[in-house]
Amino acid sequence: ISSLREALQPYRGQQRDKQDRQQRIALVPTMGNLHDGHLELVKIAKQHADVVVVSIFVNPTQFGVGEDFDSYPRTLDADVAKLATVDADYVFAPSIDAMYPVLPPPTAVLAGAIANQLCGQSRPGHFDGVGIVVAKLFNIVRPDVAVFGQKDYQQLAIIKQLVRDLSYPINIIGAPIVRADDGLALSSRNQYLSANERQVAPVLHQALQELAQSLKSTALSQQAFDKLLVNTRTRISDAGFIIDYLEIKTDELGSVVSDSKAFNIENKNIVILVAAWLGKARLLDNQLVVVN
Ligand code: PAJ
Repeated sequence: ISSLREALQPYRGQQRDKQDRQQRIALVPTMGNLHDGHLELVKIAKQHADVVVVSIFVNPTQFGVGEDFDSYPRTLDADVAKLATVDADYVFAPSIDAMYPVLPPPTAVLAGAIANQLCGQSRPGHFDGVGIVVAKLFNIVRPDVAVFGQKDYQQLAIIKQLVRDLSYPINIIGAPIVRADDGLALSSRNQYLSANERQVAPVLHQALQELAQSLKSTALSQQAFDKLLVNTRTRISDAGFIIDYLEIKTDELGSVVSDSKAFNIENKNIVILVAAWLGKARLLDNQLVVVN
């Protein structure tokens, strides 16, 4: 922590960039095992800052009992090599002891209602762990800009809330989901899939895209809306997934349907969010519904 702070100090001083502006620092937090989705975040960070710090830390406080903390892939050397190809400037890969002198830390960063739904329901405490580690990274790096992926849509919303509520002077940028050619969202957890499961996995994205398309027809009756959801669930389950949740929310993760009213997308920006198990992998995806 202290050597990173020291390395970043010159950028915060009077040193100016070529356009005589103050130098800007960007942070891209990751848990490593980097793929093209992560590298895209670095490229976006580069566009917004003069120096890009990538953190690689498999954060124990965001894993629940029985989750994949021990087996989570750790590939630091390969990660550093990949980061060199996109000109990242610093890699911050702290030990657990450096990040957590006391584990679990007695201090908490809680996100409230937004964290208790969706992923927070099946992973209790997960976003508390994300909250404290991201708050620590923000305090250690003190970036001007931080980039997070829209793949973890709820996480991004929680980080925006954290920045607002704790008055961090940080511009949070949400980066589009990077997908494989067949549509599967890239994820470090995709490698838990067998060859057969990997073939099936793109169904998740396809089902969400089709649902998004159907939701565009303006005023759906509650009945029609429910039926669309049931059909999408069936399609995903029939492909071999065990659905954790499939939900439709406003883009700020509020609820869209009140029980008596017909569902009407016209005046709302909405997002479809899914988490589903395929074999040993819990896959996440989401789809914004764009109304033309
Ligand atoms: P990790 O899963 O390694 O993801 C790091 C960042 O990469 C997150 O912002 C995530 O949304 C983004 N990302 C992952 N796959 C992506 C894809 N296919 N397209 C676009 N962005 C993608 O998320 C975490 O780590 C941790 O919770 C962390 C924020 C680092 C806190 O520990």
